[in-house]
Amino acid sequence: MRRHSEYPRMAEKALAKIRKFEVGDINKILEIEEQAFPKTAYSRETMLHYANSFRDNFVVIEAGSEILGYIIFDMSGHVHSTAVKSAYRRKGFGRMLFMHALRYTKKRLWLEVRSKNSVAIRFYKGLGMETAGRIPNYYGTDDAVIMVLGQKEWGHYVDI
Ligand SMILES: CC(C)(COP(=O)(O)OP(=O)(O)OC[C@H]1O[C@@H](n2cnc3c(N)ncnc32)[C@H](O)[C@@H]1OP(=O)(O)O)[C@@H](O)C(=O)NCCC(=O)NCCS
Repeated sequence: MRRHSEYPRMAEKALAKIRKFEVGDINKILEIEEQAFPKTAYSRETMLHYANSFRDNFVVIEAGSEILGYIIFDMSGHVHSTAVKSAYRRKGFGRMLFMHALRYTKKRLWLEVRSKNSVAIRFYKGLGMETAGRIPNYYGTDDAVIMVLGQKEWGHYVDI
C-alpha cells in the first residue's frame, strides 16, 4: 500500500515531461549545472557542443515553465552528465531521466562518477548499477568509479 506522503510525488511526476533540449533552455541548464557541480560545472560552450553532438540524447525534464533537470547520454549508453535542480531532488525525477536514457539506448548504461559523490553512487546503485572499475585521480585528486547497468538489470527495466 502506498504511503500518503507518496501522493504529492506522484502528482508532480505526472505533470513532468521529458523533451529534447532547446537552445533557449541554456541559461536554466547552466544554473542547474553550477548548482550541482560548483567547482567543475560545464561551460556554456561545452553544453552547446553537447546539444549539437547529441541532438536526440540531451533531454530535459520540465514541469510548466520550470526545468527540473537534464541528462546527456550517447548511443553507446555512456551517460555524460545528469543533474536535478536541488529543490526538486528526491522526488523521482533523476530516476525518470535515467529510465528515459535506458529505454532510448536499449543498451547498457555506463558512466564515471566521483568516488566522493556518495549521493550519486547510492542513486545509481538503487537503479541496479554495479561498480565495474576505478580510475585513480581521474578528477584531479578524486578517483572515478565506473558504474554499469548490466544486461540482467536491463531485462528487469525494459517493460517500465
Ligand atoms: C544524483 C541525482 C541526479 C539524483 O536525482 P534525484 O531526482 O534526487 O533522484 P531520485 O529522486 O530519482 O532518487 C531515486 C533514488 O535514489 C536514491 N537517492 C537519491 N538521492 C539520494 C540521497 N540524497 N540520499 C540517499 N539516497 C538517494 C534513493 O534510493 C532514491 O529513492 P527514494 O527517494 O525513493 O528513496 C541528484 O542528487 C543530483 O542532481 N545530484 C547532483 C549532480 C550529480 O551528482 N549528478 C551525478 C553525477 S555522475
